[in-house]
Amino acid sequence: MFSPETGARPLADGASSTASEIGEVLVSEQDLQRRVRELGQAISRDYEGRRLLLVGVLKGAVFFLSDLMRYIDIPVEVDFMAVASYGSATDSSGVVRILKDLDIAIEGRDVLIVEDIVDSGLTLQYLLRNLGSRNPASLEVCALLTKPERRKVELPTRYIGFEVPNQFVIGYGLDHGERYRNLPYVAVLQR
Ligand code: IMP
Ligand code: MG
Repeated sequence: MFSPETGARPLADGASSTASEIGEVLVSEQDLQRRVRELGQAISRDYEGRRLLLVGVLKGAVFFLSDLMRYIDIPVEVDFMAVASYGSATDSSGVVRILKDLDIAIEGRDVLIVEDIVDSGLTLQYLLRNLGSRNPASLEVCALLTKPERRKVELPTRYIGFEVPNQFVIGYGLDHGERYRNLPYVAVLQR
């Protein structure tokens, strides 16, 4: 629990039992918040006067998206998609299945896909094709992280938070076996 005396954070309790899995911090909480604010300001400028719809990809993007949205000061709506990618635990195959589709019709809308990380790019390639076929007015991508060394397909990503090296990362939405999403920073998974 949060303790006002010690300043201890709730996540410290949850993380401490497996602290050995949390490796080097690649992006600090402060750097995340600063960059997310910059992205929100840029999006607000670029989409001024348009009908912006953020499409969050569950579950990893939820944390980034909810912070990002609070830095957007133009009218904005949000919807979510959940997808599963066939493949091994660490490699997506590009064969993607929709687990939850959008609630909102996107024809004529300015759609910005919000993703946690672009790794091989295969999931995003599928999403761009799928959503693109629904005739949005525009379709762009905002990803918190990118791992360029892993890329199998090149995609137009208009907004990127940070580049990370070819390592498995956790925190700020990114999980390893559904854990560590609650870390307020991005760290390397230590195996
Ligand atoms: P892609 O289709 O290979 O680009 O994979 C994209 C998805 O894989 C992301 O949306 C993440 O959910 C997951 N992913 C890729 N790299 C990492 C990582 O380093 N940590 C946690 N999840 C990752
Ligand atoms: Mg995941």
